[in-house]
Amino acid sequence: MIDRRTVLKTITAIPLLAVAGGIGAALLSYLKPTWAPLAFPKTEKPLNKDLMAATLEEFPNEFDSKQVIFTQTTVEYSARGKQATDVLGFIVRIPAGKLDPKTVGLVPGNPDLRRGFGETEYKGQKYAIVAVSRICAHLGCIFEYHIPADVCARFNYCGGSTPMFSCPCHLSVYDPTQSQDVSGVLLAGHVVSGPAPRTPFPFDFEMKDNQIIIKNYA
Ligand code: FES
Repeated sequence: MIDRRTVLKTITAIPLLAVAGGIGAALLSYLKPTWAPLAFPKTEKPLNKDLMAATLEEFPNEFDSKQVIFTQTTVEYSARGKQATDVLGFIVRIPAGKLDPKTVGLVPGNPDLRRGFGETEYKGQKYAIVAVSRICAHLGCIFEYHIPADVCARFNYCGGSTPMFSCPCHLSVYDPTQSQDVSGVLLAGHVVSGPAPRTPFPFDFEMKDNQIIIKNYA
């Protein structure tokens, strides 16, 4: 006859055995090979769509500006396979001749593409165009575009006489009419004040006829 102590021991052992079995099964499952191939997205390249961002007629005067939103699509290692991010940007017409298109905004190996700055002629007029992201190169706030009086009063920089990009977070000021060397590439948007370490991030764009077409965000 089974005594009472044996019955109690058996009842107590059942949940302990179940827990041990569960842990053991989980550990053993790591030893099981994965037979199904891993499904990687087909391309590693950005999947950005071109954006017809503006026409030259929208900039009749020097320092006219337009805000744009470029949707950048990149590969994501998830079931969705890609993710889309909206990048806010500014397009500004600056005076022709301030920056040299032969040295500023070049894209190696692609003479049709401009990196943040380009010049073109349309209907007898020269257009010098700066196209950059509004994400501040310091810590990622969204910067604004202000006239010199505002830049002086609100951003502690009174050395300019033309409109500039100015960031409200830590008062970085970028001059779109000056260039700066960023890792060996001359880009528009020299940092004239504040902690930003480099120019704004440029859009790559083409100018065809009167159209400004953003292709990518560098
Ligand atoms: S984030 Fe723009 S100055 Fe710091």
